[in-house]
Amino acid sequence: MQKITIKNILTRKGKKPITCLTAYSKATAEILDRYCDIILVGDSVGMTMYGMKTTKEVKIDTMMLHGKAVKKFVKRSLVVFDMPYKTYTNKFIAYKNAKKALKKTRCDAIKLEGGKKVINIIRYLVKKNIPVMGHIGLLPQYSNNFKLKGKNLFQRKKILEDAISLSDAGVFAIVIECVVENLAKEITNTVPVPTIGIGASKYCDGQILVIDDMLGLSDYYPRFVKKYSNLKKIVEKCVKNYSREVKLRRFPSYKNVYR
Ligand code: KIV
Repeated sequence: MQKITIKNILTRKGKKPITCLTAYSKATAEILDRYCDIILVGDSVGMTMYGMKTTKEVKIDTMMLHGKAVKKFVKRSLVVFDMPYKTYTNKFIAYKNAKKALKKTRCDAIKLEGGKKVINIIRYLVKKNIPVMGHIGLLPQYSNNFKLKGKNLFQRKKILEDAISLSDAGVFAIVIECVVENLAKEITNTVPVPTIGIGASKYCDGQILVIDDMLGLSDYYPRFVKKYSNLKKIVEKCVKNYSREVKLRRFPSYKNVYR
């Protein structure tokens, strides 16, 4: 089993699609490791595991606990640590936090949100040998509503310029979130690094989804999510069954008892 490197990801541009999902714990990390090129320890953990309203509430210590738990059970995939809100307000703070997060979790790279505004920070991190994944389009840390991006010329120009700047600054991949299809296609055809879409069409070099969304464990499903299961229903059925059996004294049965 060969470990996936940043170099491997870069060589996938325009070739074999890159598979990515988020993970926050051991159980999913172990499964994803067999099928995903990149596992993102996303700050979406705030919503999925802690019931927060936005990712803005997530703290770096919480992220580090999840980063450590995931990385410990991943042998093959590249593990990316999502830098939470306000942990990269300038290049020195960003470097201090990124270095600490990578040292404590042993994750392979970091991701941060933003385009031209964070270019100096990304340049500095890359110069200091911190591998960085970019994130453009809809930026959950800076946006109060879930809105499609790139519908007008002004937005299109800005998002395309953001992508080019990120690529020039040395990111190894760019997440494009919730943008119109033809813009995602144009960005993918323009930048030399792989693009990873989430609500950004099949034209990206790879795809990412939040694991809870694709498993059917969430409460809110944007159009770009495909539910591959309805785990909420499945778990409910199991719990209902268990509860019934306990009440009827059918569980534990002779199979579950020590004699
Ligand atoms: O935190 C996260 O899950 C993310 C994905 C939406 C890309 O940033």
